[in-house]
Amino acid sequence: MKGITVGFIGAGMMAEALIGGALKMELLPAGKIVASDVNPARRSHLAQKYGVRVTGNNRDVVAWADLVVLAVKPQHASGVLAEIGPALAPEKTVLSIMAGVSTAAIESYLSPGVPVVRAMPNTPCLVGAGVSAVARGRWAGDEHAELAAALLKATGHVVRVDEGQMDAVTGLSGSGPAYVFTVIEALADGGVAEGLPRPVALELAAHTVLGAAKLLLESGDHPAVLRERVTSPAGTTAEGLLVLEDRGVRSAFARAVREAARRSKALGEGTA
Ligand SMILES: NC(=O)c1ccc[n+]([C@@H]2O[C@H](COP(=O)([O-])OP(=O)(O)OC[C@H]3O[C@@H](n4cnc5c(N)ncnc54)[C@H](OP(=O)(O)O)[C@@H]3O)[C@@H](O)[C@H]2O)c1
Repeated sequence: MKGITVGFIGAGMMAEALIGGALKMELLPAGKIVASDVNPARRSHLAQKYGVRVTGNNRDVVAWADLVVLAVKPQHASGVLAEIGPALAPEKTVLSIMAGVSTAAIESYLSPGVPVVRAMPNTPCLVGAGVSAVARGRWAGDEHAELAAALLKATGHVVRVDEGQMDAVTGLSGSGPAYVFTVIEALADGGVAEGLPRPVALELAAHTVLGAAKLLLESGDHPAVLRERVTSPAGTTAEGLLVLEDRGVRSAFARAVREAARRSKALGEGTA
């Protein structure tokens, strides 16, 4: 991202995660980052903690930055876009991380040719272990998607999708952390029922989930292969897995993703 200036409209939690990650990974120096926010407390927090430029004027960000990141809540999208849209030229790249706001909706406020990239990050981005899906809008090329992905990598892994797949992404990785928290809590409940102190049970459960994901990603093995490897004949894991199959856990998770994706689609279409 050498030579690129990045501006954030909305300097909340997600903007801070991206700024903190970008500086930590030395993607760009603090002097190349500007953030605007209506909240003076957020502005001074970011200026003091990260040494980035801050402003209360969204148009300053647009004038100065090559990559303009829309990081306000979706309900503020139309107000912000009406304000900054006329000032955005096709030389800029717009990256929106606003959940559920389509590139077409954003483009409708902009001149033809302004490249828009949409991303769906998830909450583990706040600790640098997130995953973001990135989709190109009508005028965005690979170079714009790559620029957006380079910034998002500061908060974790990045995958490229078509925008039509964003509802599925929302159902899987967007809502997914909540499913996994439920799993962790349930595993810990089981441990407590078997006599473990609650904090120890939670530590064991959380590290088991973290470690299993790491093993899968680093080995490149299919989950079924890894599962078979820990399932010895007449052993403990085989007994546990039988219960999960009896209770339909596998289809429950798949259906949770489908229902969340369906809800995301309905919200996007205004039919929810
Ligand atoms: N948090 C996540 O894990 C996550 C995951 C996926 C996607 N997202 C998306 O990321 C976006 C940002 O989320 P967030 O959690 O970072 O929200 P946030 O913490 O509320 O940050 C948004 C900031 O923008 C400010 N703001 C509101 N109106 C503004 C305006 N007109 N101009 C400039 N700043 C304005 C807000 O100030 P006030 O608080 O005073 O209104 C707030 O400081 C959202 O669109 C969300 O859908 C978040």
